Amino acid sequence: MLYRGLTILSVTFFLTIYLTLVREATPGSTASSYLSFPYASSSRPTPVDVFSVLSSTPPGHEEYSWTEGDGSAGDFVTVGSPAHFIPLENEDIVDVKTGEKLVGPLSGSTFNLGLLKLPRGSKWGYVGVARGPHRKRELVMVNGNPSVEHVLVAFGLNITSEGKLHVVSPAQTIDIPMAPKAGCLPTKHFVATYGAEDPRLFWTDAGTPALIMARYSDALDTCRSLGFMPDLRDKFGPLADALAPGEGVVDYQSIPKIPGAANNLELVRAQGQANVEKNWVGFYPGAIADGKTIHPHVQYNFAPSLTLEPVEVNSRRILYQDVILPPQLDTRKCVQDAHFSWEPRKIHQASPLYRLTLCERGMGCVAGEDNTVLFGMAHTQRSPTHYGKFIATFNVSAPHNVISVGPRFSMNGLSDDQINYALTMVPIEDGDLDPSIPQKRLPQTHLPSHFFLDDKLLITLGHRDRAMTSVMTTVRDVLGRQKICPRPTPQIVDELQ
Ligand SMILES: *[C@@H]1O[C@H](CO)[C@@H](O)[C@H](O)[C@H]1NC(C)=O
Ligand SMILES: *[C@@H]1O[C@H](CO)[C@@H](O)[C@H](O)[C@H]1NC(C)=O
Repeated sequence: MLYRGLTILSVTFFLTIYLTLVREATPGSTASSYLSFPYASSSRPTPVDVFSVLSSTPPGHEEYSWTEGDGSAGDFVTVGSPAHFIPLENEDIVDVKTGEKLVGPLSGSTFNLGLLKLPRGSKWGYVGVARGPHRKRELVMVNGNPSVEHVLVAFGLNITSEGKLHVVSPAQTIDIPMAPKAGCLPTKHFVATYGAEDPRLFWTDAGTPALIMARYSDALDTCRSLGFMPDLRDKFGPLADALAPGEGVVDYQSIPKIPGAANNLELVRAQGQANVEKNWVGFYPGAIADGKTIHPHVQYNFAPSLTLEPVEVNSRRILYQDVILPPQLDTRKCVQDAHFSWEPRKIHQASPLYRLTLCERGMGCVAGEDNTVLFGMAHTQRSPTHYGKFIATFNVSAPHNVISVGPRFSMNGLSDDQINYALTMVPIEDGDLDPSIPQKRLPQTHLPSHFFLDDKLLITLGHRDRAMTSVMTTVRDVLGRQKICPRPTPQIVDELQ
């Protein structure tokens, strides 16, 4: 282990020196913006007219409404193939605590699927984590209410040529110890409901399969917060065997562990942590993975938009600080201004933010900070069951200001009024659906979650808190007709200062 660690360190050391030399030997290039360790490319980023790509209207979308209350008579555009429902029976789930089938009184089924694409050559195409059936334990009463433990379940999946996911491995629970919290007393009968919820999977820049989920908080006087698992293989062993390293993804043994650090770190704001925190979504700065960063930045809010950066990691928690926007990049209110009929607190982020390079996948598309954006899906939420959808884009570079906001869209076969709760998005290229088509070669190493403009887009969701669903659409269909966020002119900025 130690020897291996040293080898990695020395390789890192020499590569850094090499890259520094290369960088200095390339006069006039914009190397520093894209020559990012360790996935260097010798060519310049491909020039792209980003604003015209984002704001152009996809064919056939002309007639559709943009947002609620904008005075247009039409519906929102419907994207994608009809929703596919992914079967998984409760009897097929193994309880990792006992090694036996889930036992005892349960309620519900598997829903709210988060998905992560594995590197090619892996035994499964994808790993999924979903909310499983609840464990009901009438014996344990909390404030007079029977206890209900929410559970996460993990499994491998493959996709058919029509883009339909199916489970291809035994499913097992993820062991996340959990207990009722005094801090949840204000939530009335929900004080008895605890456990992990809403799994959002993503690749860290270090190349590990990470998970952010809703869980209890460690502090006694708060209720719920978010947990970050840097490597899902710690808690779901079969993934270590199924996963083939490559595409920036690394072997289980190659990531140095932080001595004493838990593998389920609580995400905590240095200031302003609420009693119940939900829906934090992770991302990593830069146009391409830096090959080393484990702890994610967080998109905390879409309206007003707020980014958090990790400032301190200790054995149980990652401490986050707000990223403050300078006046000339202050587009905080762009999302709420665009979707003006929604109260800001009814707009919340859904998927992690993913890197999207706005040219076509292939050797001719080199990613850099001018042609790559972070994009994520958000929900407009209305009680009890409405979850609308739209996309927004953010700058890959600090301070990660909002660049553009997109129109509402509906998904084929799903109504916005049926709790269709989106968790993750995955890029799909033709070779993923048809093994006779070779995977496209790329000029840089990109994680399997890096999107390009001509990719298909697979969205995974929960349906009515009862079923796992997915919809396949295209990047172009969900991305068009974006409103570019206005920025204050230099004069106004001067006046503000
Ligand atoms: C799943 O897909 C992989 C290739 O991605 C293949 O090797 C494997 O056999 C498939 N498994 C099943 C059960 O279909
Ligand atoms: C992101 O910000 C950087 C630095 O301000 C800028 O150079 C770059 O062009 C921006 N990217 C996009 C896509 O607007």
